[in-house]
Amino acid sequence: MNNPETGNATPIAVVVLAAGQGTRMNSDLPKPLHKLGGVPLIAHALAAAGSLTPARIIVVTGHGADAVEKTAADLAPWAECVRQHEQLGTGHAVLQAAPLLTDFSGDLIVLYADTPFITPETLAAMQAARARHDIVVLGFEAADPGRYGRLILDGERLLRIVEAKDASAAERAVTLCNSGLMAGDAATMLRLLGAVGNHNAAGEYYLTDLPALAMREGLTATAILCPEEETLGINSRAELAQAEIAFQTARRADMQASGVAMQAPETVIFAQDTWVGRDAEIEAHVVFGPGVTVESGARIRAFSHLEGCHVSAGAVIGPYARLRPGAEIGNDARIGNFVEVKEAQIGEGAKVNHLSYIGDAEIGDGSNIGAGTITCNYDGVMKHRTVIGRDVFVGSNTMLVAPVSLGDQSMTASGSVITEDVAPGTLALARAKQVNKPGLAIRLMERLRAIKAGKKG
Ligand code: UD1
Ligand code: CA
Repeated sequence: MNNPETGNATPIAVVVLAAGQGTRMNSDLPKPLHKLGGVPLIAHALAAAGSLTPARIIVVTGHGADAVEKTAADLAPWAECVRQHEQLGTGHAVLQAAPLLTDFSGDLIVLYADTPFITPETLAAMQAARARHDIVVLGFEAADPGRYGRLILDGERLLRIVEAKDASAAERAVTLCNSGLMAGDAATMLRLLGAVGNHNAAGEYYLTDLPALAMREGLTATAILCPEEETLGINSRAELAQAEIAFQTARRADMQASGVAMQAPETVIFAQDTWVGRDAEIEAHVVFGPGVTVESGARIRAFSHLEGCHVSAGAVIGPYARLRPGAEIGNDARIGNFVEVKEAQIGEGAKVNHLSYIGDAEIGDGSNIGAGTITCNYDGVMKHRTVIGRDVFVGSNTMLVAPVSLGDQSMTASGSVITEDVAPGTLALARAKQVNKPGLAIRLMERLRAIKAGKKG
């Protein structure tokens, strides 16, 4: 399938490697599905891929393929998946994409599903370097080169990459390392990959053999460098936790740079796709799950949790509010403490200020929902909608048993259990009538005290 939005002079096919087992995560969940910034690791790689407006994205899956393919399809519906049934190495993994690219002419760029911090600028720099060299490898100066592949350069030319396991002592002393990302003409790379063998310490087909193979054919390879932070790969839970800290630190700085006010930025958790407008204010200890947009000038008060929702300008959320997927909060609306909103549209200036659950509902402009109101949306099998008009006054502790509607400017008496539609302008009272018994409270207490005293004696 082709990307409908592709716009490059040289078409690009991105191959995302996601087949590895990720043994060091010690998890049943495939590594590409572990979350960073509220979304699976592979979402970060797909977002980086997307910045290239590629003609094709091919995800190579293997370990946990069904789950990884499902997530990839959700995140990038036109991406293709191909299975690597045995994980025989990075070169073998890229080669699995070859049958899908027989008619493709353009560049191939290899990304890893477990390397989430690659920036669009770095990918653009790799593309730019392609003008001068047949193969471009992304490298970095490693503080601790350890198990990384080493880049053996002669001036600008990359002669070869040697894996740590196969390196001589002199080669291991090289600190310029391979990030794993590589770009080149697709047909050339796939042809060269056909010549890669597995006679090495790991017994694997190494993608990293390509620069040396290219040289033998009179082609050239080079390396461009990026900061080590960008090439950070996730191999263990400790590394994932470190990556989350790095991710949050960067997102908070981005938010501040784009004009978002935060009292205690170190306590605010963002997701990969959180969007917050200029002059919005976020108080301490707010958590953003995926899919949240907050317009300019809205205020998210302390200890609120938001996911899959939209908050319009001037609205105030929290403290202690929970907005779940499908919550759409209108301009200047108020969602107060211990209020949960799910799959519901809250109209302009409407107020749900205390201790309420609003789910599968629509609340018109200017309506006021009293404390403790519940939309009883679930009958144990199906969900039903509650539709509330404009300028409605819902009394405290009203149960709205859906499906039900309240017309414009209607009211409910507090404590009502509303099971039938209420017409516009109507007051609905749906509770037992009060009966007062003068003196009975005192007589009752006297009797109870006498019983208690009798038991002691
Ligand atoms: C690889 C590079 C090394 C580089 C390092 C950077 C090779 C031979 N080595 O080593 O030079 O410094 O990355 O992190 O390329 N994968 C598959 N199928 C496979 C094997 C791997 O899809 O058969 C995927 C993994 O899921 C992972 C990526 O490829 O996303 C890298 O594989 P990994 O085994 O982590 O490579 P390294 O040994 O770290
Ligand atoms: Ca790795």
